[in-house]
Amino acid sequence: MKKVRFGIIGLGLMGREFGSAVARWCHLTGMNARPEITAVCARNPQSYKWFTDNFETIKVVTDDYRELLASEEVDAVYCAVPHHLHQQFYIDIIEAGKHLLGEKPFGIDKPANDAINECISKHPEVFVRCSSEFPFFPPMQRIGKMIEEDAFGPIIEVNSGFLHSSDLNPNKAINWKRMIEYNGEYGCLGDLGLHPCHMPFKAGWTPKNVRAILSNLVPERPDKEGNRVPCATWDNGTMLCDAEDPRSGQLFPLTIKAQRIAPGETDTWYFEIKGMKACARWSSSNPRRFEVLEYTGGEQAWRHIDMGWEVAFEGITGPIFEFGFTDAIQQMWAAFLYELTEGQPKSRFASCVTPEEAALTHRLFTAALRSHAQGTVETV
Ligand SMILES: NC(=O)c1ccc[n+]([C@@H]2O[C@H](COP(=O)([O-])OP(=O)(O)OC[C@H]3O[C@@H](n4cnc5c(N)ncnc54)[C@H](O)[C@@H]3O)[C@@H](O)[C@H]2O)c1
Repeated sequence: MKKVRFGIIGLGLMGREFGSAVARWCHLTGMNARPEITAVCARNPQSYKWFTDNFETIKVVTDDYRELLASEEVDAVYCAVPHHLHQQFYIDIIEAGKHLLGEKPFGIDKPANDAINECISKHPEVFVRCSSEFPFFPPMQRIGKMIEEDAFGPIIEVNSGFLHSSDLNPNKAINWKRMIEYNGEYGCLGDLGLHPCHMPFKAGWTPKNVRAILSNLVPERPDKEGNRVPCATWDNGTMLCDAEDPRSGQLFPLTIKAQRIAPGETDTWYFEIKGMKACARWSSSNPRRFEVLEYTGGEQAWRHIDMGWEVAFEGITGPIFEFGFTDAIQQMWAAFLYELTEGQPKSRFASCVTPEEAALTHRLFTAALRSHAQGTVETV
């Protein structure tokens, strides 16, 4: 079993999810590689304790990420820090010769993403991917197989989205994700938008243009002291694109939604594809329910299939049992380690977001900002 020694920069929400996936790596039965956490870094020392209490393998604990990068004990880095730090941190990680799983949006804006990509192109020896766990849910893996088998036929339309609702409360305190200087001009698109792009882009459906509508529904929020302060980030975004199906060369409507204020939705990813031969849909609000309609000339009827643990990277869980968010995170990490150590992904949809796919999200979101500002259809 190959061991890949990881440093984690950013020990917040997502850093701990990685820690948990590492701690139960034995859950996976078919892997030839395993991660080991050897170094952690965050600005807030209080976040070290959970890691040092739970991982005896940690040798470096620091608030200076350059110290982590200088360590001989680190082969690869998971970097989950606020967006304004992506450019500098990702470039320094790559230049230090460490493999990288970065977080979305992979640069706060397009110039930052361009700079990261330029650095990647100078370091082909370093393996770089971006995190997004959405396609690892079993129904999405099934949809991926159907796309590869051309089961849908000519595509009629695709709808993909990521919806939250906690910002419906106008008294929720502002944090960095609601401030342009840390989260970026993209607002909800940068924070949520890469997830609903992942599956369409992996399928090779490239948006040619975009008509976007963005909303700032809560322009002020309380700060930690209770003072009302400006909250200038976009809360909700809808992007309607002409996308090209590479099989047929035909254009079809691709709608991508990223919403922080979607009443009733806790953390909902959904995906729907309508084709001339078949249709399929899935939503994380009913995560085991896979819906499919296969058109063979007779009556048109949706089938509802309750899917269990049918995954890209097999494990100890029986196939009838439910799959969840933490499983998706671990499957994504398995995909990263598999491709890092085997040199190619296990399959097209069992792979992490590539730098090229992340770059395409930046072209799309930048065009979406122009489209909204001018009320125009913008080329992507
Ligand atoms: N894949 C997903 O589903 C998902 C979910 C949430 C967030 N994210 C992404 O993960 C990244 C982090 O988001 P989060 O929700 O974990 O944020 P968070 O606020 O919970 O954590 C951020 C971490 O960064 C650390 N940090 C800040 N400045 C630092 C510095 N100068 N040096 C070292 N560490 C520093 C903080 O100490 C904190 O530990 C963002 O890019 C976000 O978009 C991804």
